[in-house]
Amino acid sequence: MTKIIAIANQKGGVGKTTTAINLATALAAIDKKVLLVDADPQGNASTGLGILEENREPSLYQLLTKQEFDILSIKKTSIPKLDIISSSIDLAASEIELAEINNREEVLKKILSKIVGYDFIFIDCPPALGLLTINGLVASRSVIIPLQCEFFALEGLSALTNTIDTIKSGLNSTIDLEGVVLTMFDKRNALSSLVEEDVRSHFKNKVYKTVIPRNVRISEAPSHGKPVLLYDTQCAGSQAYIGLAKEVILNQ
Ligand SMILES: Nc1ncnc2c1ncn2[C@@H]1O[C@H](COP(=O)(O)OP(=O)(O)OP(=O)(O)O)[C@@H](O)[C@H]1O
Ligand SMILES: [Mg+2]
Repeated sequence: MTKIIAIANQKGGVGKTTTAINLATALAAIDKKVLLVDADPQGNASTGLGILEENREPSLYQLLTKQEFDILSIKKTSIPKLDIISSSIDLAASEIELAEINNREEVLKKILSKIVGYDFIFIDCPPALGLLTINGLVASRSVIIPLQCEFFALEGLSALTNTIDTIKSGLNSTIDLEGVVLTMFDKRNALSSLVEEDVRSHFKNKVYKTVIPRNVRISEAPSHGKPVLLYDTQCAGSQAYIGLAKEVILNQ
């Protein structure tokens, strides 16, 4: 059985892509077969995993346009058990193109239903609640929400949880909140702990025990086209993502 998990938060820069790349890598490192679907026109997950622009096609855009899976869209990464379906800038057009078709919210679900052989599929959603994110949520068994440890962390989150509830009562009755992961935690900053307290009292046991620290190695890794786990295995950021992967496995 493949577990499909969307990584979503319409707020930008909260650590969705970093979590998608490094959680996927940590699971692949413990022998899980993992596919990462880059559903963001920015293509950050594709870049972060070292997929050159000329090697991205057929990208998710082509699959959504044809409404059909194409085995050639699955690219290998430098991590043995981790594959990716890349994004490209033309994916931005999908928001408009999808709007014109009937089953507009279910196209990604239909495509992913043809894919077999993976333990996990992660969907890295864009920072918006448009049709790409909706397609990601409709296709998924559950959602991981990364929250940055800053003052406005919870602001706007009700829009996301309301969207998840609407999808649960209609297009995808089995979707659940997989977990909330706190990112960019700065232990020297009292605000980080206050935000953590606030988020834990709001989401209770849905918040992962593992907190991802603000760590410069995490921010350096994408420019080398590598997950931080390959760039610097021992750093605090890598160790945190290994801890997160263990928690995700326990919930499986
Ligand atoms: N724990 C961390 N420590 C330091 N830097 C981090 C950490 N997590 C993410 N970053 C950096 O913060 C920026 C935003 O992270 P990321 O791209 O993962 O967020 P995102 O939610 O996917 O953004 P977008 O909404 O644009 O897709 C990136 O430059 C990333 O390298
Ligand atoms: Mg991103």
